[in-house]
Amino acid sequence: MKINKTKIHRIILAVTLLSLVSCSSPQPDTPQKARVGVACYNQSDTYIRQLTDCLRDQFDQLTNDQLDLTMTLRDAAGSQRNQDDQVKELLDAGCSILCVNLADRADPSEIIDLARDHKVPIIFFNREPVAEDLMQWDQLYYVGADAKQAGRMQGELAAAAILSNAQADRNHDGKIQYVVLEGEPGHQDTIIRTEYAVNTLKNMGIQLEKLSCQIANWNRAQAQNRMMQLISQHQNQIELVLANNDDMALGAIDAYKKLNVTESVLPLFFGIDGTDVGLKAVADGELSATVYNYKEAQAASIAKLAVALISGQGIEEIEFKDEKYIYLPHFKVTADHVEKFISYIDTIEDK
Ligand code: GAL
Ligand code: CA
Repeated sequence: MKINKTKIHRIILAVTLLSLVSCSSPQPDTPQKARVGVACYNQSDTYIRQLTDCLRDQFDQLTNDQLDLTMTLRDAAGSQRNQDDQVKELLDAGCSILCVNLADRADPSEIIDLARDHKVPIIFFNREPVAEDLMQWDQLYYVGADAKQAGRMQGELAAAAILSNAQADRNHDGKIQYVVLEGEPGHQDTIIRTEYAVNTLKNMGIQLEKLSCQIANWNRAQAQNRMMQLISQHQNQIELVLANNDDMALGAIDAYKKLNVTESVLPLFFGIDGTDVGLKAVADGELSATVYNYKEAQAASIAKLAVALISGQGIEEIEFKDEKYIYLPHFKVTADHVEKFISYIDTIEDK
């Protein structure tokens, strides 16, 4: 009888201990370590540099007692072949997630095959692969911005500036003579931004005359060169410069400065991105307006999705379009409220 009682006590104790263990969530002594591989197309691109800085901040902020995130950044310097090699190295180094800003958005197959072999999901960002490529595997995602919205907003900003300023049509011929400075050919943001900006201007009743459309690959120095040629070709006829991004709008302004053109014959300039230098140019009155390409929200979405994929938790809270896409919004920026954007960025950077 006595033995049986002891036995029962032991069993009760064991059951209690077991239930205690299974009820309390396991607290690992050391956090789970995870490497995040970020492959970007070109770190000499102003916007991409600022976007990847935001991404690093986000991964730092998401590091906690349970998850220790280390981000490794690789720069393909514009070459898809470099990027394929870099992705291979990142996978060999044990990255558990890849964030890829493709060098050639039409050529992701090698990277997709490598990642699938290693069972490592990919979040593409900023340079959108075509839909068929994203369908190659269910662990492929895209985070970016809606190019149509950026173009439409640029068109609305330009139309508003032209309609409120009788001097915009400098030769008073009832038409706005304009040039476009475009990003890389084949980039979703180049084709769509130009189309939507121009069509929005037309729909808002602005008569347009296109003088030229030049490719400057998102690059300030190239845009300056192109613009110098355009100014020498068209002299003072150019009334409006639509640039697919801020750096190219700033390159166009550089060209006028270099040629010492008097202020009264300067065209109106419009950019997209709201980079630090772009916002400053709006504040200084050199750039008429820009469209804010919300890098902080893009970086936050990429990081949140990355952590959900690594930890296997929280993915159901994320809202996707067609199960794979996340698009973040843009904002219009004019001299009237540019300070708000500048101080928003300062607060984030001070954190
Ligand atoms: C665009 C941005 C450009 C350039 C490009 C690179 O979204 O507006 O400035 O950074 O991405 O893919
Ligand atoms: Ca005119």
